[in-house]
Amino acid sequence: MDEPATATKRRRFEPLPEWVGPSTRAVHAGQRGDANAGAVVFPIYQTSTFRYPAEFSEAERSGDVHLYTRLDNPTQEVAAELLRSLEGAEAARVFGSGMGAISSTLLTFLSPGDEVVAPEDLYGGTLDLLRGLLPRYGVRVRWVSAKEGESPESVVGSSTRLVCLETPTNPLLRVHDLRRWADAAHSVEALLMVDNTIATPINQRPIELGADLVVHSASKYLGGHSDLIAGALAGREELVARVDETHKVLGSPLDPFAAFLLTRGMKTLDLRVARHNTNARAVVEAIRDDPAVTRVFYPGAEGPAAQAIVERQMQGPGGLLAVELAGGAPAVRSFLGSLRLVHVAASFGGVESLASVPSQTSHRGLSPTESQARGIRSGLVRLSLGIEEPADLVRDVTEALRSISPARDRQHYQSGSVGTTGATVAQPGRAADS
Ligand SMILES: Cc1ncc(COP(=O)(O)O)c(C=O)c1O
Repeated sequence: MDEPATATKRRRFEPLPEWVGPSTRAVHAGQRGDANAGAVVFPIYQTSTFRYPAEFSEAERSGDVHLYTRLDNPTQEVAAELLRSLEGAEAARVFGSGMGAISSTLLTFLSPGDEVVAPEDLYGGTLDLLRGLLPRYGVRVRWVSAKEGESPESVVGSSTRLVCLETPTNPLLRVHDLRRWADAAHSVEALLMVDNTIATPINQRPIELGADLVVHSASKYLGGHSDLIAGALAGREELVARVDETHKVLGSPLDPFAAFLLTRGMKTLDLRVARHNTNARAVVEAIRDDPAVTRVFYPGAEGPAAQAIVERQMQGPGGLLAVELAGGAPAVRSFLGSLRLVHVAASFGGVESLASVPSQTSHRGLSPTESQARGIRSGLVRLSLGIEEPADLVRDVTEALRSISPARDRQHYQSGSVGTTGATVAQPGRAADS
């Protein structure tokens, strides 16, 4: 029997041999024949709705139709399939933002009375969700300090339903031992959800280390060009399908054009991450002994135990680091003002290098006391090293550090002058902030 003329053919993805490496996977996973014109690049289905056969329910059962782009769309599916392949997961979905992926996942698995275990060192949006929204629905959060996080077995309990981890963390680049957290979570039948935004599946594959669910802000390295907002989830089919149901009703779908850009970005992920790794290493080497810098944060920097975790579970350090400037907020102001190649902007993971001040951007929701306790000080600058020439970035960053004038800045700082760095500039007497 002829296929109804109105049916959209939903083709299977062309399988890849299991032995292919990440670069090949990034280029070839998610390939899907284009029935209309044989296009090598899968088209953008920029449509809100789809024509369907009169017998919709039967066609749906056989997986042959799409209905409405909030629910699914072929261009979204290609991006999800590519991520699924890179993460080594059974299933994946894309979302309108990273927060869309994280909120849909948490709301799926948490009910009143459940406990989430969460290290304190998390992206600000995730913190807001855990601190602000979820408690209103009766979910309790067991916050875990950096010290406690070294023994995950002692912080999970019988009411723990889910562990929410980020590793490396934003912005202090702390690392968590994923295998140990997975074992701890599973010992109490809880799920382990890992935010893999900073590492990307090129530098770390949490599912191979025991994670149940992996979430991403695909707005960062996966997209890679600072031109889209997207999120993603990967994990076991049964879990991802449950989140999909929540996602459909919460309604944060990825626009098809952004899904196309995301797929296009992911094709070069392996190449880009290799350069991000190189550039971050070069900048760390160049600034670690700089007198203007009191501390450099990057994966493994905390000491031998952290270094051992990095060696066990990461293939590279990634392109993100943070520096604590000796002169506090005023030094931050002169440093940022002297950068010539690195743009001052929030976000990270794009081809261009960016510098931002977490106390004013991702973590501005924290009170001064909380910021202090969590190490998000006003002298902290996060650097996202892009894919420019390593030597050019080293030169830009080191020259900007040299431009910091300690005498002038200390004077401003102690007199409490408020500069362009905004509300978190130290009050008189708070110079210990740096
Ligand atoms: C680690 C991490 N997770 C999640 C998010 C949220 O992602 P999005 O901005 O795409 O909603 C961000 C955003 O900066 C992030 O840094």
